[in-house]
Amino acid sequence: MVRYLTGFQPTGSLHLGNYFGALRPAIELQDKGEAFYFIADYHALNTVRDPAVLREHVREVAIDALACGLDPAKACFFRQSGVPAVTELAWVLSNVTPMGLLERSHSYKDKLSHGVAPSHALFAYPVLMAADILLYDSDVVPVGKDQKQHLEITRDIATKFNDSYGNVFKLPEPSIREEVATILGLDGQKMSKSYGNAIELFLAEAALRKKVMSIVTDSTPVEAPKDPAQSAIVSLYRLFAPADKVAAMESDFRAGGVGYGEFKKRLFAVIWESFAPMRQRRSELQTDPGYVDRVLAEGALRASTIAQQTIARVRRAVGITS
Ligand code: TYM
Repeated sequence: MVRYLTGFQPTGSLHLGNYFGALRPAIELQDKGEAFYFIADYHALNTVRDPAVLREHVREVAIDALACGLDPAKACFFRQSGVPAVTELAWVLSNVTPMGLLERSHSYKDKLSHGVAPSHALFAYPVLMAADILLYDSDVVPVGKDQKQHLEITRDIATKFNDSYGNVFKLPEPSIREEVATILGLDGQKMSKSYGNAIELFLAEAALRKKVMSIVTDSTPVEAPKDPAQSAIVSLYRLFAPADKVAAMESDFRAGGVGYGEFKKRLFAVIWESFAPMRQRRSELQTDPGYVDRVLAEGALRASTIAQQTIARVRRAVGITS
């Protein structure tokens, strides 16, 4: 059976990029194989320094994912720190990880350019991510395009380890869906919590409207034709609206006579409506405060069983145990 694994950092509530790029594919895959999905709280220590905020974000991400349809009866859902063996594996893997591999990390350079202070953990981030993936003998990792290089690094690290110690790890494959590989944010760049351009899944109605209305557009006047191919509005609308509605918006763009404000209203309406069932489920989940904790604790227990086998294999392979 194919084993799927993916993770979400608890750096805030989930946004449309997380949903379309990874969460929705992961939810579809939970019916197709063995699924391991987790909240990457060790990773989030990179950027979240307030313990209360971290706890809150873990809860939010868990509730968001469950509300969207992640089903703990099908997928093992846990927090990364619920299986601390992952940090041991990361340390062991560090030893076979060339510095150059990490120095080439786009994500590291990107974070520095966005003002994140360089730390050892930020630099070693791909090693911990490799440990996440290899600890569970994952076959396929559904992610957005921004994680592609991390998957390549994971494969490189696994290969280095296997070269030294025998065939201990299988090499995981990324699963990146072309049409949702990079969801655009309010400013037309990749949607990201850290860029401040994200549309979160469960904003209140007024807040969602405000965000959608703040999508950056050019100064083309209402009556002039507009290019749908260059528009973040159209690219987001395409994620929600049926093909005929998308075609209608594209033709209204080209024809001119409709302002960006009107297009944004259409986009808001379709987002708000699409998430209605998930919003309902989310408010139900919130009535039982212990539920999320129970789900994550049970998930950690199940995940630990697999992790213990892998870590025992690794300890033997490197000579820490006999
Ligand atoms: P994170 O928390 O930044 O994002 C979670 C998932 O959402 C995807 N994503 C996007 N997809 C398309 N368009 C976007 N604008 C967009 N923004 C985010 C991400 O690609 C990701 O799949 N390092 C990971 C977390 C992680 C992980 C792992 C993932 C830790 N260990 C092991 C897979 C396997 C991260 O920061 O994702």
